[in-house]
Amino acid sequence: MKRSVLITLLLLAQSSVFAQSLFQLNEKTEKEIDEIIAELTLVQKVGQTCQITLDAILARDEAGNLLEPIQFDPAKFNEALCDYGVGSILNVSSHTLTLEEWNGLLPKVNNAFLNKKIPVPIIYGIDAIHGVNYTVGATLFPQEIGLAATWNNELALRFGEITAYEMRKTGLRWNFSPVLDLGRQPLWSRYFETLGEDPYLAGQLSEQIILGYQGKTGSYLDNYHVAACLKHFVGYSMPQSGRDRTPAWIPKKFMTELYLPPFKKAIDAGAMTLMINSGDLNAVPGHANKALLTDLLKDQWGFQGFTVSDWEDFIMLETVHDLANSPSEAIAMAINAGVDMSMVPNAPQYKTYCELLVTCVENGDVSIERLNDAVRRILRVKMATGLYDKKTYKETDYPLFASEEFKKSAKQSALESITLLKNEENILPLAKNTRVLVAGPTSNNLTYINGAWTHTWQGVDTSYNTKDCETIHSAIAEKVGAQNCEFAQGARLFFTDGWEDATLTDTADFKTKAAKSDVIVLCIGELPATEKPGDIRSLRMLNAQIELAKMAYRTGKPVVLVLVEARPRVIHEIVDGAEAIFQTYLPGDYGGSALADLLFGDANPSGKLPYSYPKYDGVIEYYDRPKSVDRSGKSNAFDAFDPEWEFGFGMSYTEFSYSNLKLNKTEMTQSDELEISIDVTNSGSRGGKEVVQVYLSDVKASIVPNGKRLRRYEKIELKPNETKTVKFILAKADLQFSDVDGNWIIEPGTFQIEISGIKSNFDLK
Ligand code: BGC
Repeated sequence: MKRSVLITLLLLAQSSVFAQSLFQLNEKTEKEIDEIIAELTLVQKVGQTCQITLDAILARDEAGNLLEPIQFDPAKFNEALCDYGVGSILNVSSHTLTLEEWNGLLPKVNNAFLNKKIPVPIIYGIDAIHGVNYTVGATLFPQEIGLAATWNNELALRFGEITAYEMRKTGLRWNFSPVLDLGRQPLWSRYFETLGEDPYLAGQLSEQIILGYQGKTGSYLDNYHVAACLKHFVGYSMPQSGRDRTPAWIPKKFMTELYLPPFKKAIDAGAMTLMINSGDLNAVPGHANKALLTDLLKDQWGFQGFTVSDWEDFIMLETVHDLANSPSEAIAMAINAGVDMSMVPNAPQYKTYCELLVTCVENGDVSIERLNDAVRRILRVKMATGLYDKKTYKETDYPLFASEEFKKSAKQSALESITLLKNEENILPLAKNTRVLVAGPTSNNLTYINGAWTHTWQGVDTSYNTKDCETIHSAIAEKVGAQNCEFAQGARLFFTDGWEDATLTDTADFKTKAAKSDVIVLCIGELPATEKPGDIRSLRMLNAQIELAKMAYRTGKPVVLVLVEARPRVIHEIVDGAEAIFQTYLPGDYGGSALADLLFGDANPSGKLPYSYPKYDGVIEYYDRPKSVDRSGKSNAFDAFDPEWEFGFGMSYTEFSYSNLKLNKTEMTQSDELEISIDVTNSGSRGGKEVVQVYLSDVKASIVPNGKRLRRYEKIELKPNETKTVKFILAKADLQFSDVDGNWIIEPGTFQIEISGIKSNFDLK
């Protein structure tokens, strides 16, 4: 029955009347900011909006090489900070620094303010996206896609807290994280930086990460927290070509339902800064998108913090997007659209930016009010992060840096993220006296299990690897004893002309060692890479690795396939031949030892896929597909939804059974809440964790409804034979969907709740 009544809601989430980000400074601070702005010259105000890379002010020898250990060039330092009044520095020059090295650099930056050489403190930004990856010894967690696979809010919070703590120990206060782009284009090289395909899961976890980064003290951070930066607003993750920084086309409905909600949730949670999408969305470059940056984000959502451009992006409005006729026009366009800080990393680019922006203000292309607004927003974050606070912190204030407690937490995240996708005849867990051949290109290298943004941008330099962390091979050898553990690489991954490639190696050695083993643990996957270097031409797993798997199957030995991959690579032709399959994502420094615990039953898998794993190259599917995709039992029946594994899937060594789904009412009104409960029993023989997932679908609607959408989840732990009743509450906002014009609507009618295949209906009046 098609309903005629359509209740269009004034979208709460997009209404300025209700917008209230948690990040709001008090009147006293706003007055102090007024006073600071009144004292700044035009050049100094412009300087505040300018961000340069550390490289731009480091000393080099005559050949242009950096002096080691890296150190400031005093002339460049003074020119940037004093003459141009640069307000922010980012990153580290292809290095990972020790705490001592950081300590040799950052106080110099801070002292420039304390000694009154510059009027405003510098805010230093860094990509600590899975731990403080540019500080030697810091605790490295799984990449965000793995964190999402834990479905565990507490672990997301803990990740944020530990990362913030270790940043503060390093002397840093601004993290370019989390990435809130949705993972719906697996070809994209930064898929692993996302929290997966679902906006609800991504929103819940991002809220926890932000709480972890920024703490619970409201708008003013304490000494253990840092400012978050939401990336990359918005649509960056959906390049139609799959290539990084190429155009995205997203209908209004999907913007409202999918891509904007995680950002809205994070802004509401108090996120202080936001980085802008480098690409163009619906033909509008992120940096020229006034409708998104100013009208929606700042005016309607009430965002009080500042936006920062991505790397060199304002220039691209002229050189790539062809909107501006000159750099000057590009600058005016970006600032007027709502960009507050520009990442103009190198010299002379940053100087050109500053000089041109001064002229733009002088000739009225950018109003002084707009510039003051940008500076005010930047100052708010500088105030909130305590940069005006003259206290210095002692080494002893952060005793837990790289502690066993932090490592344990990173390992727990890895343990709960790694996802068991297949376990034929319960071949797993393996006995500890099994003779194992550990093989494959990703089995014996710490950087492969960490991925990009590990110690260096692309994560390929092994010289900074964290000491005493296990690779997959060494962790398995530790379980079974070196005498029972053979190793053969079998294939090698490399780049040819900038594209990924692989070749088989030492096949004879592989076969000999396989013959001596009971089981082959075969680790395949991807090279660490991100952004343009991570672009790929096909989702299919590189052929040499497919061949290696087939060769392993031909030995007749059982094979446990271990995927170490930044995105789900198509492996359909080798799924059947494997006895067991683990997806490890990029599990970080403790991923090797976590996988070994899971393989040998010292831990029970509980990760669940945060995306639909594609079965065929070129066929990308989402679990929340429109109902018209599923035609089982209908005329012209065929089911177009056919992933290798569905979103939310992941096996355990124990069994969980669900029963007794109850709704507290069969009729709900617009003002009601709906209470849902279900009993979950561990009917197997091991303790384990399970993610209870609540899905909702609209039975009939005015436009094709989704087959199901995730509305709630909870990760619970159950001992053998234990039963828990898990309760959830849904409100009317959980029933809304977007119409084709991007407006949230709710329609009365019948809805269906589904938990683990058990269904129950209710009506909305
Ligand atoms: C990336 C951002 C990153 C920035 C600073 C850019 O190339 O797109 O995600 O935060 O560099 O490293």
